[in-house]
Amino acid sequence: MTFAVPCLRSRRDTYLTLAMQRISTDPAQANPDRLAYFILKSVNEALREFDMLREGDRVAVAVSGGKDSLALWHLTNKLGYPADGIHVHLGIGPYSDVSFEKTKAMADRLNRRLYYFSLPEAFRIGIKDLSRTVKRPPCSLCGMIKRYVMNRACTEHGYSVLATGHNLDDEASALLGNLLHWKEEYLWKKGVALEAEGSHLAKKVKPFFLCSEKEAAAYALMSDIDYVYDECPYSIGAKTLMYKGLLNRVEDESPATKIAFVKGYLKRAEKERLSRADDETEEKTLCTTCGYPSYTRQCNFCLLAARFGGGGPVGFHVYDPTSLQDGIVKS
Ligand code: AMP
Ligand code: FES
Ligand code: ZN
Repeated sequence: MTFAVPCLRSRRDTYLTLAMQRISTDPAQANPDRLAYFILKSVNEALREFDMLREGDRVAVAVSGGKDSLALWHLTNKLGYPADGIHVHLGIGPYSDVSFEKTKAMADRLNRRLYYFSLPEAFRIGIKDLSRTVKRPPCSLCGMIKRYVMNRACTEHGYSVLATGHNLDDEASALLGNLLHWKEEYLWKKGVALEAEGSHLAKKVKPFFLCSEKEAAAYALMSDIDYVYDECPYSIGAKTLMYKGLLNRVEDESPATKIAFVKGYLKRAEKERLSRADDETEEKTLCTTCGYPSYTRQCNFCLLAARFGGGGPVGFHVYDPTSLQDGIVKS
C-alpha cells in the first residue's frame, strides 16, 4: 500500500478509500457519512470507556499543525467540548512556521484561543542548534520541551485535561518499539488516560487512539482541514516509521491486529502499574525554579532556560481570535 500520492485530490481519494475499507467491504455502503459516523463512534468509545472527560472539565488540545491534532481539535469542539489549543513552535525552519500557520488557521475557524510557546523566541535558538549545543538528540530534547510546555500552559491557564492527537498507529508502533527493546522503564507507564497528579500535572488523554492514521487523515480531508503534509525532518529514518510500516503489513494480512495489540496492552498495563506502584524507587521532587515536578533539583527545562533564556521569564503567548489579542500573557 503506497502513500506517495501526488496531489490533494488523489490523496483525498486514496485515504478515503483506505479508511472505508475498514468500515465496509461493500463499496455501495462505503461513503463519507459512514466514515464520519465511524470516527465519531471510535472517539466516543475512547472518551467513555477510558473516562477521559468528566463533567466540568476544561479541555486543551495539543495542536502540532499535523492532521491528527487539527482533526482532534475540530472534532472535540464538534462533539460539544469547547476546547482551546496549545502549540509549541520548535524553530525547525519553514516546517515549524507552516505548522504554526495551519494551527492558527484552525483557531480562527473554531474561534478558540491558542496558547503558544516559541523556542527560537524564548531561547534565541532552534531545536537543531540547541541539540548540537547540549549534545542531546533533537527528538528527545523536543519531546522534553513539548511535554513541559504543554503541561505548564494547561495547568497555568486552568485546563484540567490535555488531549493529544496520538492515533492507533502511534500507540501500536511505540508499544512495539518498547517491546522489541524491552524498555521496561517505559513499557508499563504508557496509557491513553493518565490522571492528574496534584495541581502541577494535568490529566492527559488520547481520544484518537482507536482511530488509525488513515482514518484521522480521511477525517481531516473530509472536513477541509488544511494540515502540514511533511513529516518533521528529524523523524525521517526514525524507527517508529519503520514499525508503522511493519504493523501495516501485519494489519493487511490480519485486520484488527493493531487494535487488539493496543487494547490488550492497556488491560495488562493497568494491572502492572498497580502491582509496581510500591516498587517505585525514583523520587520525584519539585523544581526549585518553576515548582513543577522534576527528578532533579532544577528541572531540565529550567536548566535550558537558565542557559539560553537570557535570564528573563519564560513567555507563553495567546492568540485569541475572539478579541484579536496576540501578546504575552504569562511569565
Ligand atoms: P508526535 O509525537 O509528533 O506524533 O505528536 C503526538 C501528539 O503530540 C500530536 O498529535 C499533538 O497532539 C502533540 N504535539 C506534537 N507536536 C506538537 C507541537 N509542536 N505543539 C503542540 N502539540 C504537539
Ligand atoms: Fe520534535 Fe521533530 S524533533 S517534532
Ligand atoms: Zn523547572
